[in-house]
Amino acid sequence: MWCKINDNDVVVNLNKQSCCEVSLAVSYYAGVDVGSVSCKAAIVDASKQLLASAIVPTGAYCREAALQALSAAIERARVNPNDLAVVVATGYGRDNVECRAFSVTEITCHAVGAIHLFPKTRLVIDVGGQDCKAIRVDERGTVIDFVMNDKCAAGTGRFFEVMAKALGIELEDFGEISLKASKQIKLSSVCTVFAESEVISLIARGERVENILLGLCLSAAERVKKLAQKVGIIEEVTITGGVARNIGFIEALSKLLGVRMNIPEEPQIVGAIGAALIALEKSEWM
Ligand SMILES: Nc1ncnc2c1ncn2[C@@H]1O[C@H](COP(=O)(O)OP(=O)(O)OP(=O)(O)O)[C@@H](O)[C@H]1O
Ligand SMILES: [Mg+2]
Repeated sequence: MWCKINDNDVVVNLNKQSCCEVSLAVSYYAGVDVGSVSCKAAIVDASKQLLASAIVPTGAYCREAALQALSAAIERARVNPNDLAVVVATGYGRDNVECRAFSVTEITCHAVGAIHLFPKTRLVIDVGGQDCKAIRVDERGTVIDFVMNDKCAAGTGRFFEVMAKALGIELEDFGEISLKASKQIKLSSVCTVFAESEVISLIARGERVENILLGLCLSAAERVKKLAQKVGIIEEVTITGGVARNIGFIEALSKLLGVRMNIPEEPQIVGAIGAALIALEKSEWM
């Protein structure tokens, strides 16, 4: 099966069959993480070296977005698409990755990715667009317990997106601005909708934006801490997911947990890296 994105893009001609057929001859492995907000792809070689990655917004068409991410990663890695031995899909939209050899849960992929980057990891905290997960792993990287947020945006990327919009700031600047706060504001609402109203009231009262941002980081961090406590806060703690790019949230969470956290260089692609490493491992069995 040929998966064509558009006339200018790389054409990916992979399916389960071709992945298996070429697995003995070549040595590149891909992971595609189809998240609620963004699709991430990572490509590793046989020595577990990350060759390239790509992040694209998921939007309404996750099938196409997944292919776009994979194509971009293939292009950046400068590998021939035919040399991809195995593609493993993860994330909530994983079953939309047509060329996958198989799917693996995000829990496992984030654990494998985090352990690969920080071998002493015992607790992984993944804060994505709509999910927040705390995952306990043992010394071999096996998942021994995990917990996820219920259907609530508090303490997820969505919470930060709504608040950034309400305050008229770029999400990318959220953390940096919050670090300039001169006082700590405690928000009384955890719910995203009520917290947004509270933020609007604080602005109307003349409260400084940086102080409100710090209050929001602390509120989200409090929520994530409660979740992590359910599986146990054991060092080393590694944080993954796009929200780990918010330095204000990271500092607030680190302070509340009372531990220093491992922050990957690119926290958003850790699940995709995990999926690519599983693809490599499984290729030995295919
Ligand atoms: N530069 C940045 N600064 C701050 N936050 C960011 C940045 N980039 C992304 N984010 C946050 O990361 C979130 C997306 O993270 P991620 O890609 O891990 O989510 P996802 O995997 O699509 O979602 P889920 O795992 O919940 O399905 C966005 O909602 C946004 O809040
Ligand atoms: Mg995710």
